[in-house]
Amino acid sequence: MPGIFELLKKDSASAARRGRLTTRRGVIETPVFMPVGTRATVKAMSPAELEELGAQIILGNTYHLFLRPGMEIIAAAGGLHRFENWNRSILTDSGGFQVFSLTGLRKMEPDGVRFASHIDGTRFFLGPVESMRIQRTLDSDIVMAFDECTPYPATRQQAEKSLAITTRWERMSREQPLNDGQIRFGIVQGSVFPDLREQAAKSIVGIGFDGYAIGGVSVGESEPEMMAAVDAAAPHLPENAPRYLMGVGTPRQIVESVARGVDMFDCVMPTRLARHGSAFIGNDTIPVKAGRYAKDFTPIDPQCTCYACRNFTKAYIRHLFNVGEILGVRLVTMHNLHYFINLMRRIRTSIEEGTFDLLRREFQAR
Ligand code: GUN
Ligand code: ZN
Repeated sequence: MPGIFELLKKDSASAARRGRLTTRRGVIETPVFMPVGTRATVKAMSPAELEELGAQIILGNTYHLFLRPGMEIIAAAGGLHRFENWNRSILTDSGGFQVFSLTGLRKMEPDGVRFASHIDGTRFFLGPVESMRIQRTLDSDIVMAFDECTPYPATRQQAEKSLAITTRWERMSREQPLNDGQIRFGIVQGSVFPDLREQAAKSIVGIGFDGYAIGGVSVGESEPEMMAAVDAAAPHLPENAPRYLMGVGTPRQIVESVARGVDMFDCVMPTRLARHGSAFIGNDTIPVKAGRYAKDFTPIDPQCTCYACRNFTKAYIRHLFNVGEILGVRLVTMHNLHYFINLMRRIRTSIEEGTFDLLRREFQAR
């Protein structure tokens, strides 16, 4: 079988890479941003709109989909793609992150986590065996290993203990069967300790996955700590495999991580901020719903080519938010996703043309 990841070009001034990841649903040009579709929908967007925006792959989540609608319904639908009518690639997270945000409702056991549903308190058990089985039923294209996202802050001792659990669970995740054509990513933990990150990267690579994620970031640490974690892990990951930084991030964090050799990103920021009426411009956001835009008859970003900016003014969108009309959220979501997807397009082109360093400085300056 040919490699799933083709390295097309390496930047000369940084570790940035231009690549191509092939799943059974098609080709993904990297670096790539993956919109988050936790509950079988990217909030407020239809699949047709996502395709129009140029989304190549979206996320889904084991934990949420397992609870609702549940695996019986997803199996009867014929998998997650058919259920939500998305025909391009889907990456599913393993649930190892969501379960750990349920502080108080969970109990660690050797082979997984016993937890009470955040919806109605029903008790469930989720570990590597269960997570892999659920992701087979979802039939996602990229399956994530089941890990423990080490909380922040953690002492070195806590981080070591957590990493030992993750390493064992990832080995177990690797042993489970998948459906034909599904590919599987391991996850590097290790908190803010560079030597633990290095050790984690080496042991996950030793287990052997199709791609490698860096997890346990964007959990409250500083930006320098986040970048140090990437710096410590990335050099120990195979050059010919895709690298995914989980849950990151701001435009600048994405650009800086690309410079360190990361290929894939996901973040709720564009969709979540849109629902609060914040729109991305440059390296900043503006509160479109603010009264100051009541008579501003210019688009969110006059340079932007998204549907919202081509057709509507800030005054109109601010009005929609002011009266609680859902089109407001939809338009800002479209704009924000366009911003992130277009940022990745600019990153890819700049790596191809040898100008990534200029783009990077543009984001550092702001
Ligand atoms: N999403 C964001 N961070 C993480 C992580 O550390 N692990 C998993 N499984 N998902 C994540
Ligand atoms: Zn726009």
